[in-house]
Amino acid sequence: MTKKHVKPALQEVVEAEGHLIDSHIMEQIFDTVVEYHGRFEVEHFHIGKTNAEPSRLRLRVEAPSSADLELMLGQLLGLGCTPVDGSDAVFAVVDRDRCAPEDFYSTTNHRTLVRRGGEWHAVENQRMDALIVWQDGKPWARRLRDLKAGDEIVVGMRGIRVIPESKERDRLAFAFMSNGTSSERQVETAVRQTAAMLKHAVENGQRVVVVAGPVVVHTGGAKPLASMIRKGFVSALLAGNALGVHDAEAAMIGTSLGVRLSDGRQAEHGHRNHMRAINMIYHAGSVAEAVKQGKLKKGILYECVANNVPFVLAGSLRDDGPLPDTITDMNQAQDSYAEQLRGAGLVLCLGSMLHSIATGNMLPGWVKTVCVDINPAVATKLSDRGTGQALGVVTDVGMFLELLDKNLPEVK
Ligand SMILES: NC(=O)c1ccc[n+]([C@@H]2O[C@H](COP(=O)([O-])OP(=O)(O)OC[C@H]3O[C@@H](n4cnc5c(N)ncnc54)[C@H](O)[C@@H]3O)[C@@H](O)[C@H]2O)c1
Repeated sequence: MTKKHVKPALQEVVEAEGHLIDSHIMEQIFDTVVEYHGRFEVEHFHIGKTNAEPSRLRLRVEAPSSADLELMLGQLLGLGCTPVDGSDAVFAVVDRDRCAPEDFYSTTNHRTLVRRGGEWHAVENQRMDALIVWQDGKPWARRLRDLKAGDEIVVGMRGIRVIPESKERDRLAFAFMSNGTSSERQVETAVRQTAAMLKHAVENGQRVVVVAGPVVVHTGGAKPLASMIRKGFVSALLAGNALGVHDAEAAMIGTSLGVRLSDGRQAEHGHRNHMRAINMIYHAGSVAEAVKQGKLKKGILYECVANNVPFVLAGSLRDDGPLPDTITDMNQAQDSYAEQLRGAGLVLCLGSMLHSIATGNMLPGWVKTVCVDINPAVATKLSDRGTGQALGVVTDVGMFLELLDKNLPEVK
């Protein structure tokens, strides 16, 4: 009788800690194991007994092949499961600029720790789609294009711990963020909650970054946004060329894409007004110079210059001009956005699919984000980037800003 050879199942024991139940992480962990044709056995589960106490899970997982196990572990890692083998992360040295070894580890936007010398180290500059480089005794998230020959980077999936965001437990934020995206929620409620978040951020010295599209100007939102900047609620403004062009047009000529903001009627020969605005800024040399020379006397960019609030205008294929301030080198524009987003506590994304989603991709998952857009798909896309950290408001952005500004006091 021939002995039947039974291939042993490939196994791993992983651990996860956090608000695993009410943030629905536990069910995602189980679903992932099944998705990769695996089996799981809960070796230990401790439910957090208070608001603050985390739950703890120890899970034995099995997969039919090592390829399945690797894929499964990669997914589980993103859900906060770390293999319990106590090993350090594996590092490899990059031999050419911008070229990583095939098995490089690619980051998520969640808080990540790397184990080296038996100690866990938090990754600096956390963002998604980056690699982890060891530098100056710490791990850093670094984009592929910034990789240099000689950099030591994390490869494989050992010695990495990811901490997924869980629902906020403080009452204000919890009530606010647990609603997700809705077009049915009363706009007034979303406005009041956003105002409370803004006040909280400013009182606690957190940076508030506003990302805005030209529709803010078209819908009459320039005035309230300018007022928010003047009152001290904005630490930096990120936008494209169009916001700058239409804001300058509105401030200097009183129209937005040729439409009179006073009565909504098309101004005669108004179609050339945005080109006139660009021309005026060219004559001055830059937006700041136009303010200095008294040509630009109000509006969003005027308030930025007058109140020393940095603004970044990132270029695109659609741009007219562009304004002299618009950064047309895309890598440079991304770097300038990332620089302003560093350390942000709250980000408001207002009516720009391009710039809102680009910003979402640069942010760590724990930064609170409010996205206002008339299109639910844009608000949802932004909300999906972090459980309980992002709110989508589906409404007209001009009306939203008008109400928001009314809810904000003078803080300066
Ligand atoms: N003249 C120019 O230079 C010029 C003109 C237009 C766009 N651009 C550039 O093109 C790029 C893309 O432009 P974009 O960001 O405007 O386009 P986008 O398509 O990325 O985003 C526009 C967003 O506005 C939303 N929206 C429309 N009406 C709204 C309303 N009333 N309230 C709330 N949201 C509303 C849409 O749903 C959409 O998500 C930018 O970089 C921009 O600067 C340049």
